[in-house]
Amino acid sequence: MPIVNRVADLQPAIQAWRRDIHERPELMYDTHCTAAFVAERLREFGCDEVATGLGRTGVVGVIKGKKPAGNGDIRVIGLRADMDALPIEEETNLPYASKTQGKMHACGHDGHTAMLLGAARYLAETRNFAGDAVVIFQPAEEGGAGAAAMIKDGLMERFGIEQVYGMHNGPGIPVGSFAIRTGPIMAATDAIDIRIEGLGGHAARPHKCIDSVLVGSQLITALQSIVSRTVDPLDSAVISICEFHAGNARNVIPHTAELHGTVRTLTSEVRALVEKRVHEVVAGVAQMTGAKIDLTYERGYPVTVNHRSQTEFAIEVAKEIAGENNVHEMPPMMGAEDFAYMLEARPGAFIFCGNGDSAGLHHPAYNFNDEAIVYGTSYWIKLVENTLAA
Ligand code: NI
Repeated sequence: MPIVNRVADLQPAIQAWRRDIHERPELMYDTHCTAAFVAERLREFGCDEVATGLGRTGVVGVIKGKKPAGNGDIRVIGLRADMDALPIEEETNLPYASKTQGKMHACGHDGHTAMLLGAARYLAETRNFAGDAVVIFQPAEEGGAGAAAMIKDGLMERFGIEQVYGMHNGPGIPVGSFAIRTGPIMAATDAIDIRIEGLGGHAARPHKCIDSVLVGSQLITALQSIVSRTVDPLDSAVISICEFHAGNARNVIPHTAELHGTVRTLTSEVRALVEKRVHEVVAGVAQMTGAKIDLTYERGYPVTVNHRSQTEFAIEVAKEIAGENNVHEMPPMMGAEDFAYMLEARPGAFIFCGNGDSAGLHHPAYNFNDEAIVYGTSYWIKLVENTLAA
């Protein structure tokens, strides 16, 4: 079965919501207008419950199927979209481009929100399922852990969510196709902040100094050896030191230096190993050079791990929508996604929906592809109707 017919009728409305949201990007937890827009639509559609203020600005809608779930069946399924934009100056020249300077929907969360609204409208209209469909609209996916904030506010227990599913658009994946994998699909992301205190002095008298620039250079090199010589070559890890700040004169050895970077890993074992080795390497370089080195290693989003049976289910649903040959197994990505927290709390799966040949995510010329709307929306609907079969 291809896309849901009724969704083709709803497409213009969903596209209009998407462009409306696109014009008014909001960052992190500051998604007040978007959340109000979402809550208003959900009430209009006749959702049985609309809850606001979870995770500060998150919104949840509950849609009850035409009958309750049978004994032993899954009763409640959660579908999640994200609402926040990015601090990027838009360069698309679209008629509906961002009206706010320095902010834009460069990750397609406008499309995610609109597609889930479209699914909510259809599900509230038809209710052709048994049990509850819970639509989740979260703030602060881009670095603020909005998903964790909603979970902390009782998202899973309050609505009795048993399984949870997420979707992201994928530039480079053809429109009308999906990509997914079981197991780790996106990386954990941790932050490294290092402050080196050496001993400053005259550039011509290095033997009287502890050169914080050289210490920093040694640290960067030694940290790279963790990936190449500690982590199993068949596992994945990235250590990128992307900031190195030191000095302000060509003839002065600077007293201090600062390094900032990120660590990406795909399993909790490799994550713990890299964290331990970063601490050891920093301590070793400090001992070797005599510098004082302060390290802050902060864990961010966990690994996004797709659960096997829910992923297999999601693949079947996606094939129903896109066709047998248009659902692809993808390699994991080293980017991070805070849907990881939801998959730690409940079984489920995260899928990529083709965005075609668009600019990449977080690029100033990126735009969500409205042609993907019918596929993403149909996927949500079928996921509910197949999971909660009436
Ligand atoms: Ni995103």
